[in-house]
Amino acid sequence: MSTDSLILRRPDDWHIHLRDDAMLAAVLPATAEVFARAIVMPNLKPPVTTTAQAAAYRERILRQTPAGSGFTPLMTCYLTDNTDPEDLAAGHAEGVFTAAKLYPAGATTNSDAGVTDVRRLHRVLERMQAIGMPLLVHGEVVDHDVDVFDREAVFIDRILRGLRRDFPALKIVFEHITTAEGVAFVRAAEGPTAATITPHHLLINRNAMFDRGIRPHAYCLPVAKRERHRLALCAAATSGNPRFFLGTDSAPHLRHLKEQDCGCAGVYNAPTAMACYAELFAEAGCLERLEGFASEFGPAFYGLPLNADRIRLFRTEPQAAPPDLVTPDGEVRVFAPARILGWQVERLASAA
Ligand code: DOR
Ligand code: ZN
Repeated sequence: MSTDSLILRRPDDWHIHLRDDAMLAAVLPATAEVFARAIVMPNLKPPVTTTAQAAAYRERILRQTPAGSGFTPLMTCYLTDNTDPEDLAAGHAEGVFTAAKLYPAGATTNSDAGVTDVRRLHRVLERMQAIGMPLLVHGEVVDHDVDVFDREAVFIDRILRGLRRDFPALKIVFEHITTAEGVAFVRAAEGPTAATITPHHLLINRNAMFDRGIRPHAYCLPVAKRERHRLALCAAATSGNPRFFLGTDSAPHLRHLKEQDCGCAGVYNAPTAMACYAELFAEAGCLERLEGFASEFGPAFYGLPLNADRIRLFRTEPQAAPPDLVTPDGEVRVFAPARILGWQVERLASAA
């Protein structure tokens, strides 16, 4: 196979932040152009906690979706200590909710209303297990005595193993894993377990945050880890193991909100995500495995059909880095390490 061109089934993004209002309008085209579906995170202000809120948010997204893109947003419920299992199950049955998201309270952007103790979710998780609704997990503990770089590994031991044991048939997606421990857990877990892996966690390690100065645009949560963890993520993503699939965690913040005394966590990568993954798989010498990771393993785990459309990825001479995304409220920096800048994406005409 040529290492410079590849046709694959149109991918899906199994983890994205599309935001709302002007930011939604600004970021949605880049995702809808390439990805057929996306699992939309519910951490708005206020969070999307009910079926009615999710249905309204989906309408706002669909109104901004470029005509002809064929893009479908898949909605998620933000779990709280007070989530009503009946509303959650009804929203799932109606096709509004695809999955539900567990944010430990205080773990990341707009997670203050998240879950303070997973034991409070017992009835909710039992119900999700019974109806086959996936649980998406932000896997970090927030205890102040736990080092920020250890939050994921400690979460596995303190919370995730118990969840996996207590709800053996629950579909669990360990979102945006960042550690060798996360990879090992997902590989070995019994029961339906998967993980998403972001472009940025595949391409940068924690040095990127301190490269000749402090780099707020390389800061996200979970924070990037040591090189050995990045290598473990690369090995997992390119292994062909269907438990690992694509989720960009594209999380736009205005520049001035990242470049300040206390900068926001999040990397905006929607315009360059497929270029990042292509470069990583090409470097690993297994571009032929990208289609499984990007377009097949996610639908299989979620029990959804494969997309019929195709895209082409191809490499050109290195291009200029993409400019900041302009919104009415300010600019958003696009994640674009130099080595991905030759890759282009093209939608192919539908076969139908
Ligand atoms: O870096 C992050 N940004 N991690 C998250 O978990 C949330 C996200 C956001 O919403 O900005
Ligand atoms: Zn996220």
